[in-house]
Amino acid sequence: MAVLPRAVTPLRWDGRRLHALDQTRLPHEEVWLELEGAQDTADAIRRLAVRGAPNIGIAAAYGLAMEVSGRPGLGPLEDAADLLRGARPTAVNLAWAVDRVREAALASSPATLAAAARAEAQRIQAAEDAASDAIARHGAEVLAGARRVLTHCNAGALACGGRGTALAVVLALAEQEPDLEVLVCETRPLLQGARLTAWELGRVGVAHQLLVDGAAAGLMRRGEVDAVVVGCDRVAANGDVANKVGTYAHALAARAAGIPFVVAGPTSTIDPAIDDGDGIEVEERDADEVAELLGTPVAPEGTRVRNPAFDVTPAELVTALVTERGVAAPPARASVAALLDA
Ligand code: MRU
Repeated sequence: MAVLPRAVTPLRWDGRRLHALDQTRLPHEEVWLELEGAQDTADAIRRLAVRGAPNIGIAAAYGLAMEVSGRPGLGPLEDAADLLRGARPTAVNLAWAVDRVREAALASSPATLAAAARAEAQRIQAAEDAASDAIARHGAEVLAGARRVLTHCNAGALACGGRGTALAVVLALAEQEPDLEVLVCETRPLLQGARLTAWELGRVGVAHQLLVDGAAAGLMRRGEVDAVVVGCDRVAANGDVANKVGTYAHALAARAAGIPFVVAGPTSTIDPAIDDGDGIEVEERDADEVAELLGTPVAPEGTRVRNPAFDVTPAELVTALVTERGVAAPPARASVAALLDA
């Protein structure tokens, strides 16, 4: 198969403003937001109009750059950096990108602070685009021969640079294996799999089937899945991985079925400051996301709800961590540190 294109470029920088595809409106409406500063960028990230670990890092980088372009100075820089870092807690890419832009701004003179911030944001976006291609190459080697691949949430072009992380691996496999079929978990509560991954795969013409999250383990047990590949929001120093809630259950099922469970992400998602997965803050989101289904109530009024947006998969369940710098197989303290040093 010919090289598959990027399904969409969800963040477009015009030199002054950031145009962001509103992911809460997909797949039925393609609505573009025009972001102008830190506050509206942080709001878009908080309500998941802009989402996915590398993608929120890129957006936040531009958010900070736009803010200091409008209000140059150290005070606005620090305030905007705090605001953006606090928009969501789990994906480390957010704080990582904000810190990079902040440091680039601080390293320049007051007269060039805003230009330095804008240039750094553009460098981050370009680096995440390039990382996606390298992740696709490494991941397709790790999973060569897999024909039925299951994925969770959306780790595609909407969530990352380039063609994504886990979904870039899937596309590279599809280029090698014309019969590839992707099993897309719907990903309750916000249906990033059903709404976004299915949309992306449809746009690039890769065969896929949608399933409810609870169907995945049974299909793995019946031998109907060759491998699982997912993205990640934060990887601890020991290789434990935080990703969209439901990921851990897929990892347990994959281990029980004896199939590979592969995590793909750029090294910007590795957080060496967090020793293991227990130290990763898991975002708890609004009860309505669970008690309602796309705005329609599904539980009796007043039902108490838990809504952790992520879970942590221990490193020992991960067959390989695929990054743009290479593969840690399995991920462990030494192999993860080696990726950061590479
Ligand atoms: O809450 P979301 O939609 O931002 O969660 C996204 C995920 O969990 C993705 O799997 C993760 O960010 C990896 S995308 C490269």
